Amino acid sequence: MSYNDTVKDTLSRLEGSLSKHLDNIFLPLRTWTREVQISSCAGKPDETARGPPPASDESTHGEEAGRKIISISGLTKVFGPKPITAIKMLENGSSKKEVLEQTGMVVGLKNIALDVHEGEIFVVMGLSGSGKSTLLRCLNRLVEPTQGSIVINGTDIRDLDDKGLRKFRRTQMGMVFQNFGLLPHRTILDNVAYGLEVRGARAEERHARAQSMIELVGLKGYESAYPSALSGGMKQRVGLARALATDPAILLMDEAFSALDPLIRRSMQDELIDLHDKLQKTIVFVTHDLDEALRLGDRIAIMRDGEVVQVGTPEEILSNPSNEYVASFLNGIDRSKVMTCESLMKRPEVVISRKTGPRTALKMLDDSDQVIGFVVDRDRRFTGLVKAEGLLKALEAAKPLAAAVNTSVRTVKPDTKVEELIAILVETDYPIPVLNDDSILMGVIYPGSVMDKVRPDDVTASGEVAL
Ligand SMILES: Nc1ncnc2c1ncn2[C@@H]1O[C@H](COP(=O)(O)OP(=O)(O)OP(=O)(O)O)[C@@H](O)[C@H]1O
Ligand SMILES: [Mg+2]
Repeated sequence: MSYNDTVKDTLSRLEGSLSKHLDNIFLPLRTWTREVQISSCAGKPDETARGPPPASDESTHGEEAGRKIISISGLTKVFGPKPITAIKMLENGSSKKEVLEQTGMVVGLKNIALDVHEGEIFVVMGLSGSGKSTLLRCLNRLVEPTQGSIVINGTDIRDLDDKGLRKFRRTQMGMVFQNFGLLPHRTILDNVAYGLEVRGARAEERHARAQSMIELVGLKGYESAYPSALSGGMKQRVGLARALATDPAILLMDEAFSALDPLIRRSMQDELIDLHDKLQKTIVFVTHDLDEALRLGDRIAIMRDGEVVQVGTPEEILSNPSNEYVASFLNGIDRSKVMTCESLMKRPEVVISRKTGPRTALKMLDDSDQVIGFVVDRDRRFTGLVKAEGLLKALEAAKPLAAAVNTSVRTVKPDTKVEELIAILVETDYPIPVLNDDSILMGVIYPGSVMDKVRPDDVTASGEVAL
């Protein structure tokens, strides 16, 4: 290396390490400055009146959602002796039906592309035969894909040999089946410990782990019972505990609650949501039940004839069905059970700082042609409502703004379901403030704007699912 090259090399290394040090100093400083700017704006009525942050959309959701734990691309599954012939037909534009009629082969999945984010409950739903179970089973290669790639936690599982696949299934995946799949001659404790036993864990260790999983799913006391002594809901809890015992990164659940009667099913859904909150596992949940999908899913993929026709959050799918097939699924759905206040909230018309005098507050209301204002402190935390008439009285009595503030106001959170909001709206006569967990005013719901959004669209006249 020449002298010049050596100098350049040294300089560029120095530059690199210097910029790292500068970043360490300036990044926190920049963040801090931004926070100061934001909080100093919060006290000024004009600034705070800018209202809520933009409604979340696909891109912001994606950012929040974190890393992709499962990434599927070009996934096709053909059941039959000559899958390549079927794939060629598909590539030339033949439908699943045409492939079946001309070759007798069944297209289970056709060119699926999907990502599942770490920690989410990802629901796969669709009519019977649409390919849900095939898709789920491809994820642990209980069904061998014909074409495409499935990358899970950085490994393309199609590249694994038998030994690698067995290890992968034991360590990365837990599966919960519709019919429980318990071993009848083993106690509940040994059923739950089964996966650990296969893994070669010592009896003491696996029993301790199984015991804590049994407690987690609320079955303490049933350790030495046999499956036949348990109800359907209890058996499914054992199924869950067994799947969780090996601490897998991903839980696969295929119609896990479909065999349960409605009330038990509902309570199992609640329990799954609780468990998910506690453990933050990634769950891929297959169901043909829309209510269940909407209740559980952070995101939902809707399948038809082996293809994914839409992926989105329940709200995205409800408010923007990608085609008539999806729309007809949604007909008759009570949107108020799915939509949240975040999608209905508007920018508050008048936001008044707590330190403002009643005369200025009155003028702010008057300028905006409003009779109600939202009072916040300097951190934009909501403190109450003022009405024009109350302000007038305070002014006449020479009292401060605080004398006119009504602090017993019903409020909601951005994720409060509209169903709950409606119950509040019928009991109140003012716009409802939407506050985050720190009581910061995020937006306001004006009663008139709610019903239009909640009423289902007339998408198909017949209301039938288009097949
Ligand atoms: N082992 C198999 N051999 C042949 N065809 C199969 C096989 N497994 C599934 N299929 C076909 O693949 C398609 C998708 O089936 P799959 O079981 O994935 O549907 P599903 O959406 O889970 O339905 P369901 O709600 O009834 O469980 C169907 O047409 C089915 O007949
Ligand atoms: Mg199925």
